[in-house]
Amino acid sequence: MTRLTVELGARSYPIYIGESNLDKSDLFTQNISHKNLVILTNETIAPLYLDKLKTSLSEFSVKEIIIPDGEEYKTLTQLESVIGEMLKLGCARDTTLVALGGGVVGDLCGFVASTFQRGIPFVQIPTTLLSQVDSSVGGKTAVNHALGKNMIGAFYQPKAVIIDSTTLSTLPKREFAAGMAEVIKYGIIYDKDFFSWLENNTSELIALNPEALNYAIQRCCEIKAEIVAQDEKEHGLRALLNLGHTFGHAIEAEMGYGNWLHGEAVGAGMVIACQVSEQLNWMTASEVCRATNLIDAFNLPICGPKNMGYDDYLKHMQHDKKVQAGAIRFIMPQGIGKACVTSDVPNDVLKIVLN
Ligand code: NAD
Ligand code: GLY
Repeated sequence: MTRLTVELGARSYPIYIGESNLDKSDLFTQNISHKNLVILTNETIAPLYLDKLKTSLSEFSVKEIIIPDGEEYKTLTQLESVIGEMLKLGCARDTTLVALGGGVVGDLCGFVASTFQRGIPFVQIPTTLLSQVDSSVGGKTAVNHALGKNMIGAFYQPKAVIIDSTTLSTLPKREFAAGMAEVIKYGIIYDKDFFSWLENNTSELIALNPEALNYAIQRCCEIKAEIVAQDEKEHGLRALLNLGHTFGHAIEAEMGYGNWLHGEAVGAGMVIACQVSEQLNWMTASEVCRATNLIDAFNLPICGPKNMGYDDYLKHMQHDKKVQAGAIRFIMPQGIGKACVTSDVPNDVLKIVLN
């Protein structure tokens, strides 16, 4: 098992990565000071992992709240319903919330924790690849609004992130591939050696080889922890974690949420970003080819929907959370292993690539 730390002064917390971590009672007793716990999970994950987790929590007084499965439940209505259930269960400020699930459960649970009686502690137990390498670390919590994803939320850090890579054995293949988009992202924006390692270990990762999987999760969490420690509230560096997301969010919104998985849209969005970078001479054709091939190797889309063009992308990109003074800010790769945030992308270049 590997232990990392997100260094945020008094709010620092550990990330544990390894196999069968759900079985390790001491990880929970060491990191949770309250006796009263509420596990928040969903109808898909509960039958798979809830009993196992509860067995490891035998020293605590444990209650559970099970919500329906789906992005469409990441809403203020669902938040109010979870808080209502917590009040009915008699929860007070001496309760710790435990998020058992993917990014939807984790984002909702974190936001509930930040608002319930002005804030209670929470622990992340991510069970999808995307949540293990990205959403459970860094304290972005949110629910969606009818006018946009993650529009209502807070930066609110967990007390610990406990990653059990064995849970990936039950994850649908399409969800695994979606998580790989975020893994590849770290290679492109931050670490060319990790990118090469991914090129050389594609088949091991697809086969869920435990050693390869744990290393990939560890390297992503190390990079994320390093970035979050420097820029918790996304004033600069942290924005790099949104590579491919500006184009990807436009695809998700245009196609209707749920039709393209977030990671699939990010996969295509990263290829688009690379192609724009190539037009600006920030990336060579061979680097774009390597990025595209790696994304393709994990069965992710390498182009946007055929029926989407410049105007369709622009309509959605204008509502991006990174827009400043009306200017869209893009994350642009500068070769492999480095990226920048810029508004300086000429419209004619965008038109060439997006059309
Ligand atoms: P998800 O939470 O919807 O999980 C995907 C599917 O897999 C669901 O059906 C879920 O029930 C199922 N599942 C989860 N674990 C499983 C397992 N071990 N075995 C079998 N099935 C399992 O999706 P996700 O991709 O984990 O997260 C997407 C969400 O994360 C989005 O809402 C996105 O906005 C958010 N997100 C947040 C951040 C952040 O920094 N907070 C970063 C990236 C994404
Ligand atoms: N997933 C992007 C971030 O945490 O900043």
